[in-house]
Amino acid sequence: MQLINPIDAFLLASEAIELNQSVAKVAYIVAAVMFVLSLAGLSHQTSARRGNLLGIFGMVLAIAATVFGMMIDGYLWMGFAIVPAVIIGAILAARVPMTGMPELVAMLHSFVGLAAVLVGISSFLESGIEVPESEHLIHNIEIFIGVFIGAVTFTGSIFAFLKLRGSISGKPLMLPGRHALNALLILVSVGLGVWFCRVDSGGMVPLLIMTGIACFLGIHLVMAIGGADMPVVVSMLNSYSGWAAAAAGFMLKNHLLIVTGALVGSSGAILSYIMCAAMNRSFISVILGGFGGESSGPAAEVDGTVTEFSVQDTVDLLDEAQSIVIVPGYGMAVAQAQHSLAEVVRILLDRDKLVRFAIHPVAGRLPGHMNVLLAEANVPYDIVLEMDEINEDMTSTDAILVIGANDIVNPAALEDPNSPIAGMPVIEVWTAATCVVMKRGMATGYAGVDNPLFYKDNTFMLFGDAKQNVDAILSKLRD
Ligand code: TAP
Repeated sequence: MQLINPIDAFLLASEAIELNQSVAKVAYIVAAVMFVLSLAGLSHQTSARRGNLLGIFGMVLAIAATVFGMMIDGYLWMGFAIVPAVIIGAILAARVPMTGMPELVAMLHSFVGLAAVLVGISSFLESGIEVPESEHLIHNIEIFIGVFIGAVTFTGSIFAFLKLRGSISGKPLMLPGRHALNALLILVSVGLGVWFCRVDSGGMVPLLIMTGIACFLGIHLVMAIGGADMPVVVSMLNSYSGWAAAAAGFMLKNHLLIVTGALVGSSGAILSYIMCAAMNRSFISVILGGFGGESSGPAAEVDGTVTEFSVQDTVDLLDEAQSIVIVPGYGMAVAQAQHSLAEVVRILLDRDKLVRFAIHPVAGRLPGHMNVLLAEANVPYDIVLEMDEINEDMTSTDAILVIGANDIVNPAALEDPNSPIAGMPVIEVWTAATCVVMKRGMATGYAGVDNPLFYKDNTFMLFGDAKQNVDAILSKLRD
């Protein structure tokens, strides 16, 4: 057996590392391009599947390049971390119902936040990366900001998860002087940042105090946001998690992490802005925890007489109507009524009726929730319209079917300035000739606000599980 002397072994290992790192750099560029193409693909239903696949390939490539590019041994340890994580992730993703997706997403955001905090603290303790003397200050600022964003994202996402899951109340927590408290906490954090950057050693104390403050800030910001504004919070936390990942990328000098984090951070911020505009909320007010959300009095009492409809009444109405609009909401997702509904729509289209779907930007529990369900049921894209595209056609519509929706068709948003959802644009179903609301009982929706729509003269309630009722309508239409 021929022995290699230690110097040759060292040179060989260095060459192998250099080669690995060069290949990794090329792989990073390819992965970054795949992420950009993935986002572009996800922006439209027809290309969403391709976008998703590109994202998956990009991520596999990124992980492989990171693992193989950074070392030439230690794969076993990496395997211990990656294999169980892949198995747990795959099982969770396969098991989660569509209605549980927002909770899962919030939970995943919290992992990104926690990772940024841990990376920040460990790079402060022992960076493992050569930082030139002149760049120490910048490196410390990166650590401080990364840990701050990570901690806000971590606890904010956990509390968003608990709110979405219904484990804690969705009602906004309005502490007196909460904006002053937030401003004070941010000021104290800035002061701690100055202390952290000026102390040569022992900066751990300000870093840990700031981490505690940022954790509290994350909880406070999310707790102050009311039920109907939660979608914006989820997309805001998505954006924060991207910036936390980008900060971790700076700390680790990992360019792909910086690019990916910036992509997630900016796309999340754009989505939050679009959702705020769609819901008539100020972007700044939502990030600052419901600023200006106070009302000048109690919401108006909602009562009156509810008129019930039977399945046969609904079928008769659909038979007579020439133009029909269907408004799906969270209850359609819970009942999984989309496939039977798609059959009903096919029959009505075959009978030469004008049938369209009206989609509210925050219907369901995650952005694009209804679009995904309808695409899954093969409903043609061209009859699925956004709220803004179809709202003005409501007055000329003969029949509206509201399936498991509540907050998104609540007239109180426009009629009661003291309602918690005041100002939020809604689908104006009550302006059509007749409106049938399919739900199980008189329960409120996610925002916990009573709905005067159910008591209007031209509104009829078809009570029961949405899937069972749509199935019953389908079989009668087939007869
Ligand atoms: P909701 O206002 O939540 O109303 C859904 C209604 O569906 C409930 O009132 C419920 O009434 C009914 N329902 C539940 N299960 C049903 C079933 N099996 N069959 C028939 N009906 C059923 O939903 P929406 O109108 O879609 O509005 C969405 C709300 O969620 C908004 O407040 C929005 O801000 C919030 N939100 C949205 C998102 C995103 S990004 N889209 C994220 C978080 C929160 P019954 O119990 O009486 O049947």
